[in-house]
Amino acid sequence: MCGIVGYIGEREAKEVVITGLKRLEYRGYDSSGICIVGNQAINIYKEKGKIKELENLIEGMEIEGTVGIGHTRWATHGVPNQTNAHPHQSYSGRFTLVHNGIIENYKELKETYVPNVERLSETDTEIVVHLVDHFSTQGLATEEAFRKVLTLLEGSYALALVDAEEPKKLYAAKNKSPLLAGIGEGENMVASDATAMIHVTNQFKELKDEEYVVFDRNELTIKNYAGEVLEREVYSVDWDVSSVETGQYEHFMLKEIDEQPSVIRNIISKYQDENGMLNIAEELQGLPVPSRIYIVAAGTSYHAGLVGKTILEKIAKIPTEVHIASEYMYSEPLIEKNSLFIFISQSGETADSRGVLKQIKELGLPTLTITNVQGSTLYREADYQLLTHAGPEIAVASTKAYTAQIAVLSLFSIHLAERNGIEGNIDMFHELKMISTAMESLKDMKEKAKQIVDSYLTGKDKCFFIGRLQDFAVCLEGALKLKEISYIQAEGYAGGELKHGPIALIEDGTPVFVLLTDEKVAKNTRSNAQEVVARGANTCVISTKGFEEEGDAWVLPKVHPLLTPLVSVIPTQLISYYAALQRGCDVDKPRNLAKSVTVE
Ligand code: G6P
Repeated sequence: MCGIVGYIGEREAKEVVITGLKRLEYRGYDSSGICIVGNQAINIYKEKGKIKELENLIEGMEIEGTVGIGHTRWATHGVPNQTNAHPHQSYSGRFTLVHNGIIENYKELKETYVPNVERLSETDTEIVVHLVDHFSTQGLATEEAFRKVLTLLEGSYALALVDAEEPKKLYAAKNKSPLLAGIGEGENMVASDATAMIHVTNQFKELKDEEYVVFDRNELTIKNYAGEVLEREVYSVDWDVSSVETGQYEHFMLKEIDEQPSVIRNIISKYQDENGMLNIAEELQGLPVPSRIYIVAAGTSYHAGLVGKTILEKIAKIPTEVHIASEYMYSEPLIEKNSLFIFISQSGETADSRGVLKQIKELGLPTLTITNVQGSTLYREADYQLLTHAGPEIAVASTKAYTAQIAVLSLFSIHLAERNGIEGNIDMFHELKMISTAMESLKDMKEKAKQIVDSYLTGKDKCFFIGRLQDFAVCLEGALKLKEISYIQAEGYAGGELKHGPIALIEDGTPVFVLLTDEKVAKNTRSNAQEVVARGANTCVISTKGFEEEGDAWVLPKVHPLLTPLVSVIPTQLISYYAALQRGCDVDKPRNLAKSVTVE
């Protein structure tokens, strides 16, 4: 949560930093600010609301300078307003700082080192910048003062600091919050992720926890808190600026929904060798075949885990449990000895999942992260990694990351099955190709989704998604998507469970989406649909070719029964998208949410 950018070079820093912040808006968008170092002065501009508000504030102003830092906020300490927005300045005005994370011991630090400094904001961040000033007043050079402060901080942070007396240099540091360095020619940067720098460079250096970086436009040095210089390889990402722009689309969400067939094809190409065989062994070298699997995740990734459980159990024949990360952390469950923990996370940064990962590592059990972001915290800290290769996902509501996670879990289940000596497996690459074709056909059905929204959701403030087995897992995801972006209260329920309580909420015209893609339980789900129809519900049945019935609203192409969620989720994504549009909601940046949740 919160995103930071820092830039030094020859371009106008205002442009570079604002572009970077817009790409980081998925991390939080309740206020934002920039600090641009001009010829004569340090200029700070902050505004409540989205980056657009900040742009409106500075429109027409001449803000020249080739050095700058910026911040987009998701409030933790202090309400979202202009005063609490970053950057924050130290008491003498010499230092300016932006911060992503939470400083847990800020009150103690204030009392110990700067008790008489008047706090202007309610933020923890402000104390950090006062501390740098404090130690520099005591005679430490800026780098020493910064390092001294870093050794005192407890909590999570990605920081970027400007010193008005040495304005051609920037300082940045990280612990538990993400931060990358971007290496250009005659320009250098830091930012919370690569998307915020791709307009400047595609050469990155990873920063690890408890490391800091000092840079000017020509040189960038990474050090540990003992001040020792660290060597770090440069790496590039395999996507470009077009991946982080909406292009012809009005919203990232629709673009990302439409990208799903190509993401599946990309996953196939990454994990298939020239002989058509699964090419995953290298990533998983040394991974013991487990007798039980625990999947730990949050939000949409948790829902992908629910689908993955069935696939792993059916294909690899390994009992699998799925846990919500924030619940697992404090529940101390009994764990079987020969277990594997899989962490699923689009961002690779979710604090709850990371908390569990740390616990599991302490127990010495093997860990595997399935993530979209190479070099992310969960990627680095797990023993094994599989990338979902979905390209940057910018919309806060996750779509292509979900389908990519399921596709990778399917391939992983084949790997385990092969190692378990299970014969007669399905040809997963063939099935995924079929999925990609089926997804392509759904892309063209946007009118249908719009019509469904008009007929079922206009003027409604609650609805249900019901289904059984894999359909139930998709119902949970469909309901989450709809509530996230349209603010309609939506509940995903197991078809058979509805009558044990929630059916009391069914009234005349209550919309109920019925997912029906598993022939084995199709009849039962149809009966459940009838139960709600009898009580006045307006049912919208999404079924599969082969066992559709007259009146079904959407008939999906037939794919392998285990993989239907990859297809059936798409109507739910499109319905959510058009419902949000119909209500005039900000589709890509829904209220109160952030895409990367780096606090517990
Ligand atoms: C947030 C996002 C969700 C996401 C969840 C888990 O709540 O709004 O879209 O599913 O975090 O994120 P992760 O990056 O771990 O998949």
